[in-house]
Amino acid sequence: MLNFNYSIPTKIFFGRNKIEVLAEQVKNYGSNVLLVYGGGSIKRNGIYEKITDIFNKNNIRFWELPGVEPNPRISSVRKGIEICRDNKIELILAVGGGSTIDCAKVIAAGYYYDGDAWDIVVDPRKIDNVLPIASILTLAATGSEMDAGAVITSLETSEKLGTGHKDMAPKFSILDPTYTFSVPKNQTAAGTADIMSHIFEVYFNNTKEAYLQNRMAEALLKTCIHYGAKAMEEPGNYEARANLMWTSSLAINGLLSYGKDAEWSVHPMEHELSAFYDITHGVGLAILTPHWMEYVLNDNTVDKFVEYGVNVWGIDSIGDKYEIAHNAIKKTKEYFVSLGLPSSLREVGIEEEKLEEMAKQATVRGKLGNFKPLEAQDVLNIYRAAL
Ligand code: NZQ
Ligand code: ZN
Repeated sequence: MLNFNYSIPTKIFFGRNKIEVLAEQVKNYGSNVLLVYGGGSIKRNGIYEKITDIFNKNNIRFWELPGVEPNPRISSVRKGIEICRDNKIELILAVGGGSTIDCAKVIAAGYYYDGDAWDIVVDPRKIDNVLPIASILTLAATGSEMDAGAVITSLETSEKLGTGHKDMAPKFSILDPTYTFSVPKNQTAAGTADIMSHIFEVYFNNTKEAYLQNRMAEALLKTCIHYGAKAMEEPGNYEARANLMWTSSLAINGLLSYGKDAEWSVHPMEHELSAFYDITHGVGLAILTPHWMEYVLNDNTVDKFVEYGVNVWGIDSIGDKYEIAHNAIKKTKEYFVSLGLPSSLREVGIEEEKLEEMAKQATVRGKLGNFKPLEAQDVLNIYRAAL
């Protein structure tokens, strides 16, 4: 296990009706709030009304930034920064999924940045001060509710880039699983694939002796497999939604990656698909993941796939290593398909045309991952296999 410093500063309020803490928590930071949300799901399921009632009863003044897009745009970030500067905002409250929370994070960092907000997406080292942000999560997927990262898209340049700063982690997040009952099936499936991918990105790794982190990762993967399917069948099943929601936070908040030297690879490949074709993040991951697994399977990595197959999928450990590994990858793919997720790029309208350009752009900051480092040609091979 490698050395690490533990710090997971976000306070979590988890469970039914936990919105009751909202006013008291907000007041720790001030009484001028920017409420950031997406395309209207929070109005349809009643969460918006609950929040605004609480604000009105508690003399909390609020401004709104509605309409944050899935794959949030830098243009929404710029709008938000303007509202914050014009109104002396003291806390940004994001209500929604990862897109809304990510947008709020970069607004918070951009507020103090003297220049165009895209600069701090391209180069996170330019961030030195951040307004407090908080979240009310409505979709279990990205883990943005408990991490310090954000991913923003520039449509003009077909770029989707990750940025981050320790102070971009939400000060508090309210996780009420009932708020995810209204998440449609396609987003439930994509969210489950996203959580699993966050776990894979650190599980498939060369650091030895991280036994504890590996067993925790397997527990989280099994939880996704079990409850992802359950939430698809019964969208209002509290136990399923609660387990997915907490897994989404634990998958990426640092617990699994502490003590490991984990460089991600499937995520940067997927971000190009979303940047060029605006597809749903979790869908892109579900398509690419089994092909990435097959591509990186070799004599150095096969034991890790055996560990995965035996511990997560319950495959018999006696037998040919490669057979177990291929079987584990097959089960992963079949699971995604069982959730109704597409399994090829063509199904989401992606053809050969831009694959080369995307592979180049994915590796512009260097090779991807360290389980098996990938160059542009490797990324292209994986894209082609996924066609
Ligand atoms: O916009 P609204 O109307 O709210 O509808 C959203 C949106 O259409 C809907 N939705 C959310 N909660 C709902 C609901 N519909 C009904 N009932 C509810 N309770 O779901 C749609 C997708 O929302 P979005 O926020 O885009 O989804 P997700 O949470 O999957 O976020 C995806 C974004 O996060 C980034 C992705 O790249 C992508 O841009 N990521 C952020 C990460 C991070 N900050 O750490 C890590 C991830 O790997 C990921 O890259
Ligand atoms: Zn993700």
